[in-house]
Amino acid sequence: MKLLHIDASALGDNSVSRQLSAAVVARFHDQVQDLNVSYRDLDANPIPHLRGSSLAQADAAETADAQQVMEQFLTADVVVIGAPMYNFSIPSTLKAWIDRVAVAGKTFKYTEAGAVGLAGGKRVIIVSSRGGIYSDSPADFQEPYLRAIFGFMGINEVEFVRAEGIAYSPKHREDAIEAALASLPEAEFAAIAA
Ligand SMILES: Cc1cc2nc3c(=O)[nH]c(=O)nc-3n(C[C@H](O)[C@H](O)[C@H](O)COP(=O)(O)O)c2cc1C
Repeated sequence: MKLLHIDASALGDNSVSRQLSAAVVARFHDQVQDLNVSYRDLDANPIPHLRGSSLAQADAAETADAQQVMEQFLTADVVVIGAPMYNFSIPSTLKAWIDRVAVAGKTFKYTEAGAVGLAGGKRVIIVSSRGGIYSDSPADFQEPYLRAIFGFMGINEVEFVRAEGIAYSPKHREDAIEAALASLPEAEFAAIAA
């Protein structure tokens, strides 16, 4: 089984999403034999913003990296993403990664009947960490956005591991991490029909 692990937090060792995404991956390591993990730290190793020169493939190194990013995503059976909330949405480093995987003809296509996702059949697990609490809040442009973009690519059952209220107090942070660790998804994998 191939697992792609992505982290985007800028907070290094103090990051909640990094701690929890590592715990999700550790669970897969514990429960799955022959697990093949690829890792991209979007803070240490960011992807450039998508620009006209990117589309023109003007920089060979950038183009090669983008092709590898796409290949890793397309071939992954499971994708685990540490996705903190930044300014009600996601870190721009994660958006830059999404701009390289949400590509017409690769992960979705338009037809006369509308858009069709092409990247189904994989499991996407999002570790969502946020300073505030957003249940049913109209200011949550993080989880609904991620659900929408992966759904657009054909992945309709996005799973969330959530730790929120992190900034309220040290106790809130501790309790949120504990609750998230208690809610980690099982690693059993059955390919979801595309
Ligand atoms: C640049 C930045 C922007 C943030 N914006 C928000 C926000 O809009 N809403 C919120 O609830 N928390 C916000 N936070 C707090 C983070 O969501 C919170 O610290 C979370 O734990 C970050 O995940 P991490 O610990 O994995 O880095 C922000 C933090 C940073 C660094």
